[in-house]
Amino acid sequence: MTRQARDTPATPGTTVTTDGEAALHELAAGLDPPMVIVTALAPDGRRSGCLVGFSAQCSIHPPRVLACISKANHTFAVATAAPVLAVHFLGDDDRGLAQLFGGETGDEVDKFERCSWRPGPNGVPVLDGVKGWVAGAVAGRFDVGDHVAFVVEAEAGGYEEPSGGQLGFQAVKDVEPGHDA
Ligand SMILES: Cc1cc2nc3c(=O)[nH]c(=O)nc-3n(C[C@H](O)[C@H](O)[C@H](O)COP(=O)(O)O)c2cc1C
Repeated sequence: MTRQARDTPATPGTTVTTDGEAALHELAAGLDPPMVIVTALAPDGRRSGCLVGFSAQCSIHPPRVLACISKANHTFAVATAAPVLAVHFLGDDDRGLAQLFGGETGDEVDKFERCSWRPGPNGVPVLDGVKGWVAGAVAGRFDVGDHVAFVVEAEAGGYEEPSGGQLGFQAVKDVEPGHDA
């Protein structure tokens, strides 16, 4: 494949042919996927959680969601040891939580001292004030590259009513990640 100079001004509608990595980077920067926070409690009592943009519902029956966690994150080791994970869906007023869980690392701070939460299924931290959450057993884990995809059963959950707008990637893309990926 040929690579065109990235800084050449393109006429609107022009297809720029480049390599897959550059195309994906460019396309992803313009998307607005919903942001979630994944939390975990390991059997030894360690708690962790981080902001995740790589997530999606991946099954209807049984209800399951998938969330990809960087192998470098503090949350990764805790989530790998945890029998249950919680996935929180953020509302447009949850920027503070996104900043805390996406801009700080559990290697340096205890995020759970800085927010309001309660123990959920198996003690997994359930964050207060979010748009909604689901929690359940980890049905599978898949190495997908520099991230691992965790498949989480939606066995328990809750949601706010009426439901407001969601917090998407575009609203938090200026947050400096607390951990290198
Ligand atoms: C907009 C945005 C999206 C992010 N998406 C992901 C993601 O999909 N998966 C992931 O593991 N980390 C993602 N991060 C990075 C982590 O949330 C961040 O590095 C966090 O500080 C890690 O915390 P921890 O080290 O306590 O686990 C994202 C950060 C931001 C700002």
